[in-house]
Amino acid sequence: MTGALEPASSLTAAAAGGAPLLFRQLFDADTGTFTYLLADVASRQGVLIDPVFEQHDRDRSLLRELGITLVASLDTHAHADHVTGSWLMHEATGCAIGLAAAVGAENVTLPLRHGDRVDFGHRHLSVRSTPGHTDGCLSFVLDDHSLAFTGDALLVRGSGRCDFQQGDPHTLWRSITEQILSLPDSCLLYPGHDYTGRGVSSVAEEKAFNARLGGAATERDFVGHMQAMKLPHPHRIAIALPGNMRSGRPREAITTSSWAPLQRSYAGLPELPPHWVADHRDQLTILDVRTPEEVNGPDGRIGGSLTIPLPDLEQRLAEIPRDKPVVVICHAGSRSALATQQLIKAGLPQVANLRGGLHRWTQEGYPLAGADAL
Ligand SMILES: [Fe+2]
Repeated sequence: MTGALEPASSLTAAAAGGAPLLFRQLFDADTGTFTYLLADVASRQGVLIDPVFEQHDRDRSLLRELGITLVASLDTHAHADHVTGSWLMHEATGCAIGLAAAVGAENVTLPLRHGDRVDFGHRHLSVRSTPGHTDGCLSFVLDDHSLAFTGDALLVRGSGRCDFQQGDPHTLWRSITEQILSLPDSCLLYPGHDYTGRGVSSVAEEKAFNARLGGAATERDFVGHMQAMKLPHPHRIAIALPGNMRSGRPREAITTSSWAPLQRSYAGLPELPPHWVADHRDQLTILDVRTPEEVNGPDGRIGGSLTIPLPDLEQRLAEIPRDKPVVVICHAGSRSALATQQLIKAGLPQVANLRGGLHRWTQEGYPLAGADAL
């Protein structure tokens, strides 16, 4: 934990499990949506598939922490149940926004058609048009046909509904059988959604066990099944669809945190880098949660900081001034992370962790008050 940071390239390789391709499946529990990150380790270029607006900070932090340059944020279709995070990602990273040209959404910089390919480093995704759930549905197939991202066309043991957004069960049958189940049996299939914890399937499994179209089912069986389904109208559609027709660009400017350029870590913690804290030192309370021995020891301390050891924090909350934002520090940023969580829970409105703690502060050359300055 306290060692020097790994170079981002070796960290990316390690995060990929030593494989040349990094793959992550992320989940939004509110909407049952899967988001996928794929990155070529050698070039550290990546693509994101179906990001969720509300999960932008999480996804952005993961990219930053793994050192990945995002080439494109792709959506499999204009979702009815959640707003895409593509525009936010475009704003944050400059990545392209990819969506089927057929959708006609605003802010798309990479209008996609059947047969297109999206390159990231030495790898690429092929674009297959798979309409039927909506008329603008795409599936993305990895170059070696080992993985495919099927959006809401084919779900694990199911399929997307066909009763709104120009859906059509005959079209969906053709899309699934001709464009998805025609892939190799061993091709792993990653859906756009699942509500019961099923994150992945394969072509062979869906051919055998898909309740609507697997086994001996025919197009007539599939269409009959889909037409008999009585599904409630998706309750977020009135917000989600107009939002997605703007690629997730909000109608009004986003008001970011007013007091500091907070970065939320993948662990979910508000953090600030040393340079910002050093530049705004006079407007902040620096709360040091190390032990008195450490504070007065050779590591030194940040001048003017308030010291409350972590185990005493809950009992001594009243000692923290409420008129300034609080930046919490410890040696390496681990105990201060816990303290930051405690202070947020206690209702302090403006609190952040110093990223990397005093260790990084010192490494970057910011001033310390030694024990003799106490
Ligand atoms: Fe959908």
